[in-house]
Amino acid sequence: MKRTMTSTGSDPEAMDSSTPTTAIEFSGVRKSFGKNPVLQGLDLSVSKGEVFALLGPNGAGKTTSINILTTLIRPDSGSVLVSGIDVAIDPNEAKRRFAVTGQSAAVDEYLSTRENLILLARLSGLSPRESKVRATQLAERLSLTSFIDTRVAALSGGMRRRLDLALSLVVQVDVLILDEPTTGLDTRSRRELWDEVKELAQGGTTVFLTTQYLEEADALADRIGLLDRGRLAGLGTPAELKAKVGQGMVAVHDDRGTTISQVPTTGTVRDISSVLATVEPEFAEASVSLRHPSLDDVFLSLTAPTTSVEQPQTGE
Ligand SMILES: Nc1ncnc2c1ncn2[C@@H]1O[C@H](COP(=O)(O)OP(=O)(O)O)[C@@H](O)[C@H]1O
Ligand SMILES: [Mg+2]
Repeated sequence: MKRTMTSTGSDPEAMDSSTPTTAIEFSGVRKSFGKNPVLQGLDLSVSKGEVFALLGPNGAGKTTSINILTTLIRPDSGSVLVSGIDVAIDPNEAKRRFAVTGQSAAVDEYLSTRENLILLARLSGLSPRESKVRATQLAERLSLTSFIDTRVAALSGGMRRRLDLALSLVVQVDVLILDEPTTGLDTRSRRELWDEVKELAQGGTTVFLTTQYLEEADALADRIGLLDRGRLAGLGTPAELKAKVGQGMVAVHDDRGTTISQVPTTGTVRDISSVLATVEPEFAEASVSLRHPSLDDVFLSLTAPTTSVEQPQTGE
C-alpha cells in the first residue's frame, strides 16, 4: 500500500528543526583570559555553503573563536551553534558536523601520506578496504598522489598543509574550519591551497577560515568579518567592504616612492581635484597615483588607529 509522505522540503516547520540554513552562529560570545578581554560580544552567522573569513591581526582572538567553536574551550558567556547544535550543550553531536585543520594537526612524521590518511580513516570507523580507497581519493583530490608514499617528515610546507586539509576531509562533514591555513607558506603554495579550498567550497562545504592576510580573505571569502578587539569591526562581501572606503585612493608620494598622504576618493574629476587642492604647496612637485581600494584600506578605515595591523606578506 502506498503511503502519503509529507515532503520535508515544503514543510517550513520541518525545515526549521531539521535543516537550519545557518551553518555557524556566534551570539554574544565573550571570553577573557585573566584580565585580558579577548572576545567582547562576538556575533556572527555563516550560511550553509558560504566561505567566511574571520580576518584580524595577530592576537585579535581568531584562534580563541575557533577553540570555542570546536569545543576546546568554553566561552564566559554567549553561545555558538554549528548546524543548529549548541557546542556547549551537545559537544559530541556538534563535533560530528565539523572538521578542523589547525596549525598543529596530529600527523605522524614517520608515516607516509597514505599511511596517515589510512590511519585516520580507520580511527574514524572506516573498514580497511574503505580506508585505502578514501586515502587514494583524498591524495588525488589534493594533488598529493606523487608523494603518497613519502614520509611526512620529507614533505614541503605546502604539501604538509595539503595533507592537513586531506586529513580533515577523511570524514565528510558540513563545516570545514581552517585556522590560518596558509600562514608561513610561500606565495605559490598559498595559491595552490586557495585553489583547493575554492574547489571544496564549490562542492558545497561551508568553510570558516581565519586569516591575517587581507589578500587571502579577498581571494576566498564570500563574506569577511573584521575582528578587532574582540568584536566585529566590519562585515560584508569583499566588494562591500571595499565600497566603504570609496572607489579608490589618491596617493601622493615623494621621489623615493614614500607615501606622503593617501586619501579616499569617489574617483570623479571633481573629487580628485578637491583632494589634490588640499596638498601642501611644498609637495607641489610630488607624484600622484590613483589606486583601487585594498582590504588594507578597509581595515585601516574601520578599525581604530591604535590597532597594529600586520601587513600581508604578498611579496614573498
Ligand atoms: N590559553 C590562554 N591563556 C591566556 N591568554 C590567552 C590564551 N589563549 C589566547 N590568549 C590571549 O588571547 C589573545 C588572543 O589570542 P588568539 O585567539 O590566539 O589570537 P589570534 O589567533 O587572532 O592571533 C592574545 O592576547 C593571547 O595572548
Ligand atoms: Mg591564531
